[in-house]
Amino acid sequence: MKRVLIATGGGDCPGLNAVIRAIVKRASQEKDWEVLGSIQGFNGILWEPQEVIRLDRKTVEGIHYRGGTILETTNKGGPFNWPFRLPDGTWATADRSDEMIRRLSYMGVDAVINIGGDGSQHYSQKLFEKGLNIVGVPKTIDNDLSCTDVTFGFQTAVEVATEAVDKLVTTAQSHNRVFIIEVMGRDAGWIALHSAIAGGADVCLIPEVPYDIRKVAEAIEKRFVHDRGFCIIVIAEGAKPKGGDVIGEINNEIGAHHIRLYGASIRLREELKAIGCTREIRETILGHLQRGGIPVSYDRVLASRYGVKAFELVKEGKFGQMVSYRHPDVVQVPIAEAISRPNFVTLDSDILESARGLDICFGD
Ligand code: F6P
Repeated sequence: MKRVLIATGGGDCPGLNAVIRAIVKRASQEKDWEVLGSIQGFNGILWEPQEVIRLDRKTVEGIHYRGGTILETTNKGGPFNWPFRLPDGTWATADRSDEMIRRLSYMGVDAVINIGGDGSQHYSQKLFEKGLNIVGVPKTIDNDLSCTDVTFGFQTAVEVATEAVDKLVTTAQSHNRVFIIEVMGRDAGWIALHSAIAGGADVCLIPEVPYDIRKVAEAIEKRFVHDRGFCIIVIAEGAKPKGGDVIGEINNEIGAHHIRLYGASIRLREELKAIGCTREIRETILGHLQRGGIPVSYDRVLASRYGVKAFELVKEGKFGQMVSYRHPDVVQVPIAEAISRPNFVTLDSDILESARGLDICFGD
């Protein structure tokens, strides 16, 4: 019997379960393959005792529309920087990647499918270079992985953000207020940009375009006539003013990102007040609502196609590859190429031009 092991790493994302189910369903069409799942990314392989489960058709029945991941996930630590406590109580990290590859070999695992975003695919590439048979599946609501038209989970996040804009428009209109909606997007403004266009926002502030607060204030005023009117601003969590930096809280959780982004919308309100904006301003921070819950059908289809393709790459022995969507096909690209550059909104991108054509102000 041949064995393929699935791991889901990084932040969770709607569609993870649909990928897992698709891999298992496709693998079960073959007589000689069985599927294992490691709990919490690669941690399940390295823990004592190990937490690796057998995945069969029964285990994955009906999970395609469930949010989260049945395998659990983590965006901290990992085989290359495994946190451990020193005798003095402080924390350090160790590289356990070679040990993990040895363990996989003892377990009789022939190949690994790593479902994850940019960070996870960097791990995939490093493990591939160490000789592991690995295939990547691109996951992230932020859509910041390149070499694919889109990552699964993104459309669901855009749907949630757009629904929030639609709801806030009605209350903004009723009260003649300015509403600031903060969406996810650490380095890439895709969720903000898409939901701003879909929701008909007036201002969209993204990490790639530092904003001038006076330009934002001017855009707001254009939406009011004799104190009547309203204005909708969508801001990505990673947006920053010209010459300024991102805003958030120091995160002291072991192995976590140093900064937990939060409050770009609150800072924007304060900046507007500081330069004399007299409008009533309210902000809403969507946070993890964009990551939880059921995937929209687009993401279920994409995730399912990714899962089938990932298993086929394993079966054909095409390792070091990431599945990718290139309309209308699901294809494969070298993981090394996919992680060589991020997928950011560029100033000359067509979608940005469309947004400007709709009078959306980027504060530049
Ligand atoms: O990378 C996806 C993402 O959703 C970012 O937009 C966000 O900054 C981060 O994850 C939040 O991570 P956590 O779940 O650790 O708060």
